[in-house]
Amino acid sequence: MCPGHASAGMANVVSLQLTWDFITAERRSPHQTFWKGNNMKKTTVLFATLAVACTAAAPASAEDGMPMDHHAMHHHLMMDERISLNLSPEMKQQQLQNMRSHVAAVQSIVGHLANGEFDLAAEIAHSKLGLTEEMKMMCTHMSDNKDFTKLALEFHQSADQFGDTLKTGDMKKSLQALQTTMNYCVQCHATFRQ
Ligand code: HEC
Repeated sequence: MCPGHASAGMANVVSLQLTWDFITAERRSPHQTFWKGNNMKKTTVLFATLAVACTAAAPASAEDGMPMDHHAMHHHLMMDERISLNLSPEMKQQQLQNMRSHVAAVQSIVGHLANGEFDLAAEIAHSKLGLTEEMKMMCTHMSDNKDFTKLALEFHQSADQFGDTLKTGDMKKSLQALQTTMNYCVQCHATFRQ
Protein backbone atom coordinates (compact mmCIF):
# COMPACT_ATOMS: atom_id res chain seq x y z
CA MET A 1 0.00 0.00 0.00
CA CYS A 2 1.33 3.41 -0.84
CA PRO A 3 1.14 5.74 2.17
CA GLY A 4 0.16 8.54 -0.20
CA HIS A 5 -3.21 7.04 -1.02
CA ALA A 6 -4.99 8.05 2.18
CA SER A 7 -4.27 11.77 1.84
CA ALA A 8 -4.92 11.61 -1.90
CA GLY A 9 -8.34 10.19 -1.10
CA MET A 10 -9.03 12.99 1.37
CA ALA A 11 -8.11 15.61 -1.23
CA ASN A 12 -10.65 14.08 -3.59
CA VAL A 13 -13.38 13.96 -0.96
CA VAL A 14 -12.83 17.56 0.11
CA SER A 15 -12.80 18.74 -3.47
CA LEU A 16 -15.96 16.78 -4.32
CA GLN A 17 -17.72 18.27 -1.30
CA LEU A 18 -16.74 21.78 -2.38
CA THR A 19 -17.99 21.10 -5.90
CA TRP A 20 -21.26 19.74 -4.58
CA ASP A 21 -21.77 22.72 -2.24
CA PHE A 22 -21.13 25.00 -5.18
CA ILE A 23 -23.70 23.28 -7.38
CA THR A 24 -26.40 23.01 -4.72
CA ALA A 25 -25.87 26.65 -3.73
CA GLU A 26 -26.38 27.62 -7.36
CA ARG A 27 -29.53 25.53 -7.46
CA ARG A 28 -31.00 27.30 -4.47
CA SER A 29 -30.14 30.74 -5.82
CA PRO A 30 -32.78 33.08 -7.28
CA HIS A 31 -31.20 32.53 -10.70
CA GLN A 32 -32.80 29.10 -10.78
CA THR A 33 -33.87 29.52 -14.40
CA PHE A 34 -30.27 29.85 -15.45
CA TRP A 35 -29.52 26.39 -14.07
CA LYS A 36 -30.73 24.48 -17.11
CA GLY A 37 -29.02 26.73 -19.59
CA ASN A 38 -25.82 26.59 -17.62
CA ASN A 39 -25.84 22.81 -17.31
CA MET A 40 -22.88 22.35 -19.64
CA LYS A 41 -20.92 24.97 -17.80
CA LYS A 42 -21.61 23.31 -14.45
CA THR A 43 -20.57 19.93 -15.80
CA THR A 44 -17.36 21.42 -17.13
CA VAL A 45 -16.67 23.00 -13.75
CA LEU A 46 -17.28 19.66 -12.04
CA PHE A 47 -14.87 17.80 -14.30
CA ALA A 48 -12.29 20.54 -14.13
CA THR A 49 -12.43 20.40 -10.33
CA LEU A 50 -12.14 16.62 -10.39
CA ALA A 51 -9.15 16.86 -12.72
CA VAL A 52 -7.48 19.36 -10.40
CA ALA A 53 -8.23 17.13 -7.41
CA CYS A 54 -6.64 14.15 -9.14
CA THR A 55 -3.54 16.09 -10.19
CA ALA A 56 -3.23 17.62 -6.74
CA ALA A 57 -3.47 14.17 -5.19
CA ALA A 58 -0.20 12.95 -6.75
CA PRO A 59 2.31 15.17 -4.91
CA ALA A 60 0.41 14.52 -1.67
CA SER A 61 2.38 11.29 -1.23
CA ALA A 62 5.57 13.31 -0.80
CA GLU A 63 4.11 14.96 2.31
CA ASP A 64 3.99 11.63 4.11
CA GLY A 65 7.75 11.41 4.15
CA MET A 66 7.84 8.69 1.54
CA PRO A 67 8.10 10.30 -1.85
CA MET A 68 7.47 7.97 -4.74
CA ASP A 69 9.53 9.08 -7.72
CA HIS A 70 8.64 8.03 -11.22
CA HIS A 71 11.11 5.19 -11.22
CA ALA A 72 9.71 3.73 -7.99
CA MET A 73 6.16 4.15 -9.23
CA HIS A 74 7.03 2.38 -12.48
CA HIS A 75 8.65 -0.45 -10.52
CA HIS A 76 5.60 -0.66 -8.27
CA LEU A 77 3.26 -1.02 -11.26
CA MET A 78 5.42 -3.44 -13.22
CA MET A 79 6.40 -5.92 -10.53
CA ASP A 80 4.36 -8.97 -9.58
CA GLU A 81 5.39 -9.27 -5.97
CA ARG A 82 3.38 -12.38 -5.19
CA ILE A 83 5.19 -15.51 -4.06
CA SER A 84 6.10 -17.81 -6.94
CA LEU A 85 5.26 -21.49 -6.55
CA ASN A 86 7.95 -22.44 -9.08
CA LEU A 87 5.70 -24.92 -10.78
CA SER A 88 6.96 -27.16 -13.58
CA PRO A 89 5.45 -26.50 -17.03
CA GLU A 90 3.24 -29.60 -16.69
CA MET A 91 2.05 -28.54 -13.25
CA LYS A 92 1.26 -25.07 -14.58
CA GLN A 93 -1.04 -26.49 -17.24
CA GLN A 94 -2.69 -28.77 -14.76
CA GLN A 95 -3.24 -25.97 -12.25
CA LEU A 96 -4.75 -23.59 -14.79
CA GLN A 97 -7.06 -26.30 -16.09
CA ASN A 98 -8.11 -26.99 -12.52
CA MET A 99 -8.73 -23.29 -11.92
CA ARG A 100 -10.86 -22.95 -15.03
CA SER A 101 -12.92 -25.83 -13.76
CA HIS A 102 -13.29 -24.03 -10.39
CA VAL A 103 -14.63 -20.88 -12.00
CA ALA A 104 -17.00 -22.94 -14.17
CA ALA A 105 -18.23 -24.73 -11.03
CA VAL A 106 -18.99 -21.43 -9.28
CA GLN A 107 -20.85 -20.26 -12.39
CA SER A 108 -23.03 -23.42 -12.44
CA ILE A 109 -23.69 -23.20 -8.72
CA VAL A 110 -24.88 -19.60 -8.98
CA GLY A 111 -27.22 -20.63 -11.81
CA HIS A 112 -28.70 -23.48 -9.77
CA LEU A 113 -29.08 -21.18 -6.77
CA ALA A 114 -31.03 -18.70 -8.88
CA ASN A 115 -33.41 -21.55 -9.82
CA GLY A 116 -33.70 -22.75 -6.23
CA GLU A 117 -31.99 -26.05 -7.20
CA PHE A 118 -30.06 -26.41 -3.95
CA ASP A 119 -29.37 -30.15 -4.28
CA LEU A 120 -27.82 -29.76 -7.73
CA ALA A 121 -25.74 -26.85 -6.45
CA ALA A 122 -24.58 -28.93 -3.45
CA GLU A 123 -23.60 -31.81 -5.72
CA ILE A 124 -21.31 -29.53 -7.75
CA ALA A 125 -19.84 -27.88 -4.66
CA HIS A 126 -18.80 -31.27 -3.24
CA SER A 127 -17.65 -32.93 -6.46
CA LYS A 128 -15.91 -30.02 -8.21
CA LEU A 129 -14.71 -27.80 -5.35
CA GLY A 130 -14.71 -30.09 -2.30
CA LEU A 131 -11.80 -32.07 -0.88
CA THR A 132 -12.13 -35.26 -2.94
CA GLU A 133 -9.28 -37.81 -2.82
CA GLU A 134 -8.15 -36.68 -6.25
CA MET A 135 -8.09 -33.05 -5.18
CA LYS A 136 -6.21 -33.88 -2.00
CA MET A 137 -3.53 -35.71 -4.01
CA MET A 138 -3.18 -32.85 -6.45
CA CYS A 139 -2.97 -30.13 -3.81
CA THR A 140 -0.45 -31.90 -1.60
CA HIS A 141 1.86 -32.63 -4.55
CA MET A 142 1.61 -29.35 -6.37
CA SER A 143 4.11 -27.22 -4.49
CA ASP A 144 6.69 -27.38 -1.67
CA ASN A 145 5.26 -24.20 -0.24
CA LYS A 146 3.53 -25.26 2.99
CA ASP A 147 1.43 -22.11 3.24
CA PHE A 148 0.08 -22.72 -0.23
CA THR A 149 -0.83 -26.34 0.49
CA LYS A 150 -2.50 -25.34 3.76
CA LEU A 151 -4.55 -22.63 2.06
CA ALA A 152 -5.49 -24.99 -0.78
CA LEU A 153 -6.72 -27.70 1.62
CA GLU A 154 -8.66 -25.18 3.72
CA PHE A 155 -10.26 -23.87 0.55
CA HIS A 156 -11.51 -27.33 -0.44
CA GLN A 157 -12.75 -28.00 3.09
CA SER A 158 -14.68 -24.74 3.03
CA ALA A 159 -16.26 -25.85 -0.27
CA ASP A 160 -17.50 -29.03 1.45
CA GLN A 161 -19.01 -26.91 4.23
CA PHE A 162 -20.58 -24.75 1.53
CA GLY A 163 -22.04 -27.93 -0.01
CA ASP A 164 -23.55 -28.91 3.35
CA THR A 165 -25.04 -25.43 3.77
CA LEU A 166 -26.57 -25.62 0.29
CA LYS A 167 -28.38 -28.81 1.30
CA THR A 168 -30.27 -26.88 4.00
CA GLY A 169 -31.93 -24.81 1.21
CA ASP A 170 -31.28 -21.56 3.07
CA MET A 171 -30.47 -18.94 0.42
CA LYS A 172 -28.92 -16.37 2.73
CA LYS A 173 -26.70 -18.87 4.52
CA SER A 174 -25.75 -20.39 1.16
CA LEU A 175 -24.62 -17.05 -0.22
CA GLN A 176 -22.64 -16.35 2.95
CA ALA A 177 -20.94 -19.75 2.65
CA LEU A 178 -20.19 -19.08 -1.03
CA GLN A 179 -18.54 -15.83 -0.04
CA THR A 180 -16.44 -17.60 2.59
CA THR A 181 -15.26 -20.11 0.00
CA MET A 182 -14.56 -17.40 -2.54
CA ASN A 183 -12.48 -15.51 0.02
CA TYR A 184 -9.97 -18.33 -0.42
CA CYS A 185 -9.88 -17.76 -4.20
CA VAL A 186 -9.20 -14.07 -3.62
CA GLN A 187 -6.69 -14.60 -0.82
CA CYS A 188 -4.68 -17.21 -2.68
CA HIS A 189 -4.57 -15.22 -5.92
CA ALA A 190 -3.39 -12.17 -3.99
CA THR A 191 -0.57 -14.15 -2.35
CA PHE A 192 0.70 -16.68 -4.91
CA ARG A 193 1.49 -16.90 -8.58
CA GLN A 194 2.63 -19.84 -10.64
C1 HEC B 1 -4.64 -22.12 -2.82
C2 HEC B 1 -4.55 -21.19 -3.94
C3 HEC B 1 -5.68 -20.96 -4.88
C4 HEC B 1 -7.04 -21.02 -4.63
C5 HEC B 1 -7.74 -21.34 -3.33
C6 HEC B 1 -7.68 -20.69 -5.86
N1 HEC B 1 -6.78 -20.42 -6.84
FE1 HEC B 1 -7.17 -19.87 -8.76
N2 HEC B 1 -5.18 -19.72 -9.16
C7 HEC B 1 -4.18 -19.94 -8.24
C8 HEC B 1 -2.89 -19.64 -8.85
C9 HEC B 1 -1.54 -19.74 -8.16
C10 HEC B 1 -3.17 -19.24 -10.18
C11 HEC B 1 -2.15 -18.77 -11.21
C12 HEC B 1 -2.07 -17.26 -11.05
C13 HEC B 1 -0.85 -16.64 -11.68
O1 HEC B 1 0.22 -17.28 -11.80
O2 HEC B 1 -0.96 -15.44 -12.02
C14 HEC B 1 -4.63 -19.31 -10.34
C15 HEC B 1 -5.30 -18.99 -11.51
C16 HEC B 1 -6.68 -18.98 -11.65
C17 HEC B 1 -7.38 -18.68 -12.88
C18 HEC B 1 -6.77 -18.38 -14.23
C19 HEC B 1 -6.89 -19.62 -15.09
C20 HEC B 1 -6.24 -19.51 -16.47
O3 HEC B 1 -6.47 -20.40 -17.30
O4 HEC B 1 -5.52 -18.52 -16.72
C21 HEC B 1 -8.73 -18.73 -12.59
C22 HEC B 1 -9.89 -18.48 -13.53
C23 HEC B 1 -8.85 -19.08 -11.18
N3 HEC B 1 -7.59 -19.23 -10.64
C24 HEC B 1 -10.06 -19.23 -10.53
C25 HEC B 1 -10.19 -19.60 -9.19
C26 HEC B 1 -11.45 -19.66 -8.47
C27 HEC B 1 -12.81 -19.29 -9.05
C28 HEC B 1 -11.16 -20.07 -7.21
C29 HEC B 1 -12.10 -20.30 -6.06
C30 HEC B 1 -13.37 -20.92 -6.28
C31 HEC B 1 -9.72 -20.24 -7.14
N4 HEC B 1 -9.17 -19.96 -8.35
C32 HEC B 1 -9.06 -20.64 -6.01
C33 HEC B 1 -4.33 -20.36 -6.95
C34 HEC B 1 -5.53 -20.55 -6.28
